[in-house]
Amino acid sequence: MKVIETIDEMKRERAKLPGTVGFVPTMGYLHEGHMSLVRRAKIDNSAVVVSIFVNPTQFGPKEDFDKYPRDTERDLAMLEKEKTNIVFMPPVAETYPPGYDTWVSVEKLTQPLEGAIRPGHFRGVTTVVNKLFNIVQPTKAYFGQKDAQQALVLRKMAVDLNMNLEVVTLPTVRESDGLAMSSRNVYLKPRQRKQAVVISQALSLAYELYAQGETNANVIRQKMKELIEQQPLGKIEYISIASTETLEELETVNPPTLVSLVVIFGKTRLLDNIVLS
Ligand code: PAJ
Repeated sequence: MKVIETIDEMKRERAKLPGTVGFVPTMGYLHEGHMSLVRRAKIDNSAVVVSIFVNPTQFGPKEDFDKYPRDTERDLAMLEKEKTNIVFMPPVAETYPPGYDTWVSVEKLTQPLEGAIRPGHFRGVTTVVNKLFNIVQPTKAYFGQKDAQQALVLRKMAVDLNMNLEVVTLPTVRESDGLAMSSRNVYLKPRQRKQAVVISQALSLAYELYAQGETNANVIRQKMKELIEQQPLGKIEYISIASTETLEELETVNPPTLVSLVVIFGKTRLLDNIVLS
């Protein structure tokens, strides 16, 4: 496994790779969700490149960029075990040198949900992923359904900009009690962690209601809200029932429909979703 820290060297090593290249962009502090993407990339391609880069431009001024969990040694050991070919860890100063001035944005899909709460977030994501795509030149890039809006936005970017690669989205990996894996789960105090299981329970409830014939989105939202409110430490930021294509809110479930929500425990925003199909 090669660990590369400069853009020039990454480009040189990329040019030497024969066959297809699977790419998994991450911000590190890896868990089984990330590893599921790496394993699939390994199965699908001749070589796998994983990037670890905590991207400052996708964090708001009051967000956790400085405190974002980091453990490079552990990440590298995990990636080595999966026979990752290249780990790319560019420094911030080389990625965004003084005078950096070019941005990529997807317009409509970034307005609702996470985009509404985190202004500028997706502009940072699309810009850095575009840069990484240009440097790594993957055949296929792998993203998690856990961040459903991000996956949708990045697929749209790749299509709209005629990028010569395939965006692959893979299912959310969960802890045994159902909590979606996330690097930010380490922030949770034991009592918060226990109550956070209500998020996936609320999604299961939405699924059950829909399976029983309930298509009124407001009824489903209301029942999810009542369930979550039974856990006093969680504060609902949003519950959305929206088109999986446009992310527009729906009054009536019309499959495939994305049910997504954010519940805040202390200072930790926990995001999860399910698709009703
Ligand atoms: P990060 O949060 O590190 O996530 C990297 C990739 O792992 C994303 O595609 C994310 O959707 C996926 N992922 C996270 N948790 C998952 C889970 N429980 N199951 C399956 N996949 C999961 O997302 C980012 O980094 C950044 O925004 C990035 C795309 C790297 C751009 O900076």
